[in-house]
Amino acid sequence: MKITIIGAGNVGATTAQRIIDNELANELVLVDIIEGIPQGKGLDMYESTPITGVDVKVIGTNGYEETANSDIVIITAGVARKPGMSREDLLNTNFGIVKEATLKSIEKSPNAIIIVVTNPLDVMAYTAWRISGFERHRVIGMAGVLDTARFRTFIAMELNVSVEDVYAFVLGGHGDDMVPLVRYTTVAGIPISELLPKEKIDQLVKRTREGGAEIVSYLKTGSAYYAPSAAIVEMVESIVKDKKRILPCSVLLQGEYGLNDVFVGVPVKLGRKGVEEIIELKLTDEEKQALHASASRVKSIIDSLKFD
Ligand code: APR
Repeated sequence: MKITIIGAGNVGATTAQRIIDNELANELVLVDIIEGIPQGKGLDMYESTPITGVDVKVIGTNGYEETANSDIVIITAGVARKPGMSREDLLNTNFGIVKEATLKSIEKSPNAIIIVVTNPLDVMAYTAWRISGFERHRVIGMAGVLDTARFRTFIAMELNVSVEDVYAFVLGGHGDDMVPLVRYTTVAGIPISELLPKEKIDQLVKRTREGGAEIVSYLKTGSAYYAPSAAIVEMVESIVKDKKRILPCSVLLQGEYGLNDVFVGVPVKLGRKGVEEIIELKLTDEEKQALHASASRVKSIIDSLKFD
């Protein structure tokens, strides 16, 4: 198993470290445009492996030669948010970066599965899919696992229970209009509506929607990376070990949920082939409306981009 991470910044480097610690690859390549950074971070990580007792060869580079024949390519390259910025504010800069990262990666690894992390997430995942020409099951955006983890954390904090027992699903685009599915949210199988009053649940939903901005407002110089990298690794693990976990991911919909030609977060089965199934939940009219509103926002941004 060979994994390449494009972008050796906060998200990319933390993801690399988690992949190495969990020995999810035999070879890991870190790519960045800044000279010395991927080499330095990569070597530093490699030197940690005798201590942690894992066999992962780590290579840092400014080019793509070393990435050849990767099984998974994770794109984290791009600029991150600063306070007051929305994910969409990153659009133009990151569009160029993701186009370049995709083209150069697929030239060397035409059979890879691409996981996109760069924001605005759903639009960048669409970009990677469109530019790569890959089948849709090989291009996956990371957002839902992170958004769900934030929702689960807030619920666990509120009820003072283990995060492990909190189960939740968040659909839609990775933005302020994401759709946390309260109906599917349970604590050890108990619907959350039996445990918390509606106003409290609404507050937690709001905090989840604004979860990324909350971290940006604390950090000031960048955006979240510990939870995002953990989310990426949960997806990577399901692919590498062919676990077939059902996880919320941003994927290209072609008729599912009544949506077409747009990347948006829905539950999918992740295995060795990538997205092995898109799970269609029965949504209420209200949930469907919220999902469609979120998807049309993503689509309007996609329509504003020039691909040729
Ligand atoms: N090719 C490779 N690497 C690039 C390129 C490029 N064309 N352009 C920028 N980079 C690198 C930067 O040099 C930097 O090291 O991408 C890295 C981004 O790292 P950070 O600035 O630390 O940003 P990070 O917090 O990792 O977020 C990256 O993920 O979660 C999203 O919104 C976030 O879009 C942002 C991305």
